[in-house]
Amino acid sequence: MIILGIETSCDDTALALIETREVGGVFECRILSSLVHSQAELHSPYGGVFPTLAKREHEKNLPVLLEKLLEESMETQDSGSKTCPWLRTGIQEDNKNDKIPIDIIAVTEGPGLEPALWTGIVFAEMLSKKWKAPIIPINHMEGHIVGSLLRSDKSGGEWQRLKPLQMPALALLISGGHTELVKIEDRQDSLVTALPQFIYTIVGQTKDDAVGEAFDKVARLLNLPYPGGPHISRLATEARKKNISSSVKLPRPMISSQNFDFSFSGLKTAVLYAIRDAGKLSGDFKLGLAREFEDAVTDTLDTKLRKAIEETNALTVIVGGGVSANSYLRAQFEKTAAEYGISLYLPSKHISGDNALMIALVGAFHYQTRPRTIRAHGTKRLDNR
Ligand code: KG4
Ligand code: ZN
Repeated sequence: MIILGIETSCDDTALALIETREVGGVFECRILSSLVHSQAELHSPYGGVFPTLAKREHEKNLPVLLEKLLEESMETQDSGSKTCPWLRTGIQEDNKNDKIPIDIIAVTEGPGLEPALWTGIVFAEMLSKKWKAPIIPINHMEGHIVGSLLRSDKSGGEWQRLKPLQMPALALLISGGHTELVKIEDRQDSLVTALPQFIYTIVGQTKDDAVGEAFDKVARLLNLPYPGGPHISRLATEARKKNISSSVKLPRPMISSQNFDFSFSGLKTAVLYAIRDAGKLSGDFKLGLAREFEDAVTDTLDTKLRKAIEETNALTVIVGGGVSANSYLRAQFEKTAAEYGISLYLPSKHISGDNALMIALVGAFHYQTRPRTIRAHGTKRLDNR
């Protein structure tokens, strides 16, 4: 089966083409091509994502990216790896009779910025009509979970099996829009054995700002460009190397609360007050504060994760979302998983941010059963279909 993934939930325009199969009852996939066009530079002057600008850019980028994606997929075939022998024929035929061998179009339906999401959905509808392929709407957060199960993100690569999940599993989703702890269980009633089928229950989430949003806002306070996460991380690493620490101790919000919820807006405000009280932003002050902020975020996420591992008896932890690119956090999560003797699945750094590979992969999962199972605290449905 060939699946086209479309992702336009925020400021990345992304398309991916994957092929899937079942071998001996086990799901396998390979990546034909995966492209991400980042708009970060365009949004940087606004200090965050400007939705109408994102929409306009997605509209402009999608057709260009699609052409490149299909070309790259054909090159994959030409490079001798015998990828989908009929893909080239299919694409050439497309010129004559508008037929293309794409079985499913998986598109992010949310959560995300509405004008940006619509661009991807409308594009998917247009292609669906043209190619007579069904559309599967995908939850972006499920994408971040499933994307972390890929062993390799290399295009034109080998067939791969997903990393095995020992249940129950937990996902810690840390992105620019979300901070969630999700419990994952097997769908016992699944009739489809080769495809993993999961039930997700959100057991904790942020009460206000997402962790990536806090990184971005703190970066802005420190006069660093958007997106701020990588810049804060760079300063914090430098501070540790130079042994510079902050004289200001930042709070670890909700660290002692009994639930698995998070709150990051107070942390951001504490940074604001620290900067206001300091008066002048010296180089060393910035380094120390970035380090203290990264420490505070790490302590907070790690403490909640530990609590959740203990409470749910999780045997696997998946971390996903843009903030999972953070090396300091990754190292801490690795330590924690080793201490508990459980598996930790992190996405490769290339696909920790938004991408369409993860969306195409979820499309494969849902093709036959289409469960719509993401729930907040076991009750509220997050997706509104
Ligand atoms: O998942 P993502 O690409 O987009 C959303 O779905 O929100 O996450 C983007 C977020 C941004 O807030 C960005 O600052 C943050 O991920 N981020 C990082 C790092 N790289 C990206 N945060 C901390 N450290 C990083 N190295
Ligand atoms: Zn995301």
